Amino acid sequence: NWTTGNVIEEQVAAIREQVGDKRAICGLSGGVDSAVAAALVQKAIGSQLTCVYVDHGLMRKDETEQVEKDFVAATGANLKVVDASERFLNALAGVSDPETKRKIIGREFIRVFEQAQLEILQEDGPEVAFLVQGTLYPDIVESGGGTGTANIKSHHNVGGLPDDIEFELVEPLRQLFKDEVRMVGAELGLPDEIVQRQPFPGPGLGIRIVGEVTKDRLDLLREADAIAREELTAAGLDRDIWQCPVVLLADVRSVGVQGDGRTYGHPIVLRPVSSEDAMTADWTRMPYDVLAKISTRITNEVADVNRVVLDVTSKPPGTIEWE
Ligand code: XMP
Repeated sequence: NWTTGNVIEEQVAAIREQVGDKRAICGLSGGVDSAVAAALVQKAIGSQLTCVYVDHGLMRKDETEQVEKDFVAATGANLKVVDASERFLNALAGVSDPETKRKIIGREFIRVFEQAQLEILQEDGPEVAFLVQGTLYPDIVESGGGTGTANIKSHHNVGGLPDDIEFELVEPLRQLFKDEVRMVGAELGLPDEIVQRQPFPGPGLGIRIVGEVTKDRLDLLREADAIAREELTAAGLDRDIWQCPVVLLADVRSVGVQGDGRTYGHPIVLRPVSSEDAMTADWTRMPYDVLAKISTRITNEVADVNRVVLDVTSKPPGTIEWE
């Protein structure tokens, strides 16, 4: 029978067996999955694990600081932070196609890890042979690796891996759904700020800008996203909403009026969804007053945004993310 205690015991034993006396590195993304995977592996092999946080510049506001502070405080894990934002921006320059963006981000991610691995290899200690990933059951199914369903999107942590990967993967969450991962994380002593965090995709804001990813667009989207999150939290909606992607339609402009001037700005899409496991989802019937507040604040506070629209599509037919 399924209990978090059993899952942890089973996975700890499996991880010890797989890794042996070698070392592993784990990428922390800022999300629940990688944090719980890392905490599980930390429990199994302790100091044989080094966590690496790649700041790809596609994170939401304050997220980097939260990883450095909350996660390290909760687990005491070794954490190496790599600032690679410039590199990701360069690699993404001129690219608008969603699958190409995902592949580039997945590829650069692994390359940065390989560099981090080299640096960790300079340290004394056993071979670094394993890469820990917080792949969940739905990720595997949606990338066509599970029950043979068609490939919908190449997920950053499954199909997006390049062919020249040098690590053997450790994926302790691959049989679990999101709610189970949260229970396991809580049982492992991770704080609510980490365990109850809403899902955020590995490619980050890179797949929430419809169009080319640039520094200015990222900064703009970060502001809009921070406002939406702040108001959703203030309204007490964090637990009712599975996640609320905030999307910038960078290639779309529409006419508006602000003060006594005409504007020609970009729309921001709010995509609040309710879901059990992200395999299917419904758009959340959110209170109008909360939507109004978010809309007013975004159009007032974020330059170049003159329109906020609500996505009222369930999954299927729409996926949760726009790319
Ligand atoms: P979709 O857009 O496929 O998203 O309905 C389903 C869930 O997966 C998240 N997502 C990702 N998570 N790497 C991740 O770790 C990815 O590349 C990725 N793409 C989508 C999405 O936020 C939602 O929770």
